[in-house]
Amino acid sequence: QRAGHVTIVEVAPRDGLQNEPRLVDTADKIRLVDLLSDCGYERIEVTSFVSPRWVPQMADAPAVLSGIRRRLGTRYAALTPNMQGFEAAIAAGADEVAIFASASETFSQKNINCSIAESIERFRPVAEAAHHRRIPLRGYVSCVIECPYEGAIAPTAVLRVARLMADLGCYEISLGDTIGRGTPKAVDAMLAAVLGEIAASKLAGHFHDTSGRALDNIAAALDHGLRVFDASVAGLGGCPYAPGAAGNVDSLAVNAFLLTKGYSTGLDGEKLDHAAAFARSLLGAA
Ligand code: HMG
Ligand code: MG
Repeated sequence: QRAGHVTIVEVAPRDGLQNEPRLVDTADKIRLVDLLSDCGYERIEVTSFVSPRWVPQMADAPAVLSGIRRRLGTRYAALTPNMQGFEAAIAAGADEVAIFASASETFSQKNINCSIAESIERFRPVAEAAHHRRIPLRGYVSCVIECPYEGAIAPTAVLRVARLMADLGCYEISLGDTIGRGTPKAVDAMLAAVLGEIAASKLAGHFHDTSGRALDNIAAALDHGLRVFDASVAGLGGCPYAPGAAGNVDSLAVNAFLLTKGYSTGLDGEKLDHAAAFARSLLGAA
């Protein structure tokens, strides 16, 4: 309480499940989102409206988003890389949409099949449509520390893309340490650059815990004034080629960490445990 409020954005149903090798039943995805709603989240990223050939795990996006129980006070978001995705997301009831660019040229090509500059042009009509319909628009920048193909990414490259996202009208830009290679020192340097032009209140931290440093990196981001962090219940989203390797930082760990530091999150710990147990059961029954 003393230290103020921090928002945890729950991304397990999207970032977690998109990385799980096994396909989870639509009904189980809906149940997971419903259990997460019970925890009191302000925002849940439910799914992504992307090409099913690129990400088969998200092929049932319309059924999941239109099938969930909606809790008053929770906003349900979806990733929408283009107008096709945007229109499908709105039809299924998205309260918020997110566009996703990369600070790395190679990752942009591998992830969304176009250059960074082209991606911004593809996002422009999505941003305009969101603005027109008064749908909150979030922006992701991935590979803000390292790219799996290019290695270290310059903080100025992150700033450049974050600025483009802000110019498109994103109310918040989530900075993604996509492969979890960040250290507090690297996070410091990256945030120092981005905060030169974009206020901390418009930024979120999206840390993957691949190297076990996500909480240290969140601490570094808190020191810079960030108060929104993405996390995934039960750390859903481990790499299919590295059994036991951590994926997104675990929501329960982030919640406990923030409470220890004196922040409030508004989440119900017992219900989080319950949602986490269900999330684990989805992966356990191979
Ligand atoms: P493309 O092939 O360049 O697109 O893919 P296209 O417009 O030429 O379309 C090709 C086909 O895809 C067509 O189908 C379209 O209909 C279909 P066909 O006629 O060949 O049968 N298509 C779609 N289908 C459903 N929904 C759509 C859609 N758009 C086209 N919205 C595209 C470009 C962006 C679509 C593709 O590259 C794609 O779907 N990529 C998704 C990649 C993805 O989801 N990555 C994971 C999310 S990013 C992330 O995880 C990082 C983050 O967590 C932050 C962090 O960790 O740092 C956010
Ligand atoms: Mg991610």
